[in-house]
Amino acid sequence: MNMMNPDISLSSEIPETEPERQYYYIEKAKTYVAKLSEELGRRPTFCVTTFGCQMNARDSEKLVGILERIGYTEEAAEEKADFVIYNTCTVRENANMRVYGRLGQLNRVKKKNPHMMIGLCGCMMQEPKVVEKLRKSYRFVDLIFGTHNIYKFAELIVTCFESKRMVIDIWKDTDRIVEDLPSERKFSFKSGVNIMFGCNNFCSYCIVPYVRGRERSRDPRAIIREIERLVADGVVEVMLLGQNVNSYGKTLEEPMTFAELLQEIEKIEGLKRIRFMTSHPKDLSDELIEVMKNSKKICRHLHLPMQSGSTEILKKMNRRYTKEQYLELVTKIREAMPDISLTTDIIVGFPGETEEDFLETLDVVQKVRYDSAFTFIYSKRTGTPAATMENQIPQDVIKDRFDRLLEEVQNISAEVCSVHTGKIMTALVESINDHDASLVTGRLNNNLLVHFPGDETLIGKLVDVKLDECKGFYYIGTQV
Ligand code: SAH
Ligand code: SF4
Ligand code: F3S
Repeated sequence: MNMMNPDISLSSEIPETEPERQYYYIEKAKTYVAKLSEELGRRPTFCVTTFGCQMNARDSEKLVGILERIGYTEEAAEEKADFVIYNTCTVRENANMRVYGRLGQLNRVKKKNPHMMIGLCGCMMQEPKVVEKLRKSYRFVDLIFGTHNIYKFAELIVTCFESKRMVIDIWKDTDRIVEDLPSERKFSFKSGVNIMFGCNNFCSYCIVPYVRGRERSRDPRAIIREIERLVADGVVEVMLLGQNVNSYGKTLEEPMTFAELLQEIEKIEGLKRIRFMTSHPKDLSDELIEVMKNSKKICRHLHLPMQSGSTEILKKMNRRYTKEQYLELVTKIREAMPDISLTTDIIVGFPGETEEDFLETLDVVQKVRYDSAFTFIYSKRTGTPAATMENQIPQDVIKDRFDRLLEEVQNISAEVCSVHTGKIMTALVESINDHDASLVTGRLNNNLLVHFPGDETLIGKLVDVKLDECKGFYYIGTQV
């Protein structure tokens, strides 16, 4: 079946196989949306808000793809939209609080706009306690679904139109991967591409393995086919997505390494840049370093989450590397690629973290000298092993360490980023500058941004730019 133009009739039986079944529901949903459109006297609108990581961002593109296919148009102002969707994250407590806060506001809007539909999905919905709370205290929500059945979105929308009650569909886990459903990219020239789903690492602080399920890799042929289609549609840069891309392919029927996958993707004509995230240090192979070093398309950037510099804490975190192993890995990467940009994630205040442990983290920061680092205050996630560990650290101690870490990280990153001043580098132009419309914003190979004079005709193009001045975390430049 040609999925771009599927031949589906509503008078035939509902298909049992996927994605055919969803294309059937897309047709069915179109009839309901058309009816709604007649009642409103205009096309109904949607607004999808994404919380969390790039995985969620990519999932949201799939939601938008379905919504546009069935006849909705996008509305940037949430309070005006007929269908509001929150694609949620639950990696830290404050992510959940933001969703509850915004739902409260949305309830007031919905009282004035009774036909508004509200849908909630994403990682937070995979937590039974959350769904219980929503079911009891947030009765105005129309649709709740999780991360494993997102491909059923069209079918769930139809259920919503046909039933006036709250529709809830959450799966515990799945080994299923449904390919070839519509999606609508946020950027015409770049795209995220899932290469795997789920996570098997069970870092002791992390909720992701519980809400995203077991690790499963996509078939390499499906990945290549998707990227070829994207390139034919104008994409020049892809970001390969997985919680631990370095373990790609282990569960495939014909196992394949991540480095081998990268070599296949490199061959795709017309594709200019390849990025990926995230790399777990314990699985980063020599083969990958070699492939990156020799590649013309893989960007010189590695996001290599350290989490903590203390071997003791790393053990309690179940990260399965020591401080020394991490530093050795960095040395090996830098020897192969001296110009590589390294970024990281760090958690402060993990249970049992002493001042000495914290100083080990600062030591790694000073030794590695990251281009940038995301620093997080440890957040207790119920259901993870760390939540019940003894010696939870008082907030004032954490805050003090966090501030010291942040200062160090920022000082170093300002120094590290400025080393390219005066060089000419290639930037992929992403947008008109937010603050000054005479400038465009481009992303360098090493993930830094450069702002320079230009107009919208440059968007999506790779251009050479002279980096005139470093402003801490970005450059001001001129096209050459
Ligand atoms: N798979 C990626 C990380 C995904 S979550 C990896 O292993 O690197 C993104 C980041 O959120 C993590 O790297 C970690 O630094 C942070 N994080 C996860 N759980 C957290 C928690 N309970 N408290 C604070 N930060 C957390
Ligand atoms: Fe969480 Fe660890 Fe998996 Fe990353 S590798 S998603 S931090 S459990
Ligand atoms: Fe958040 Fe889920 Fe990503 S918990 S960080 S959106 S995988």
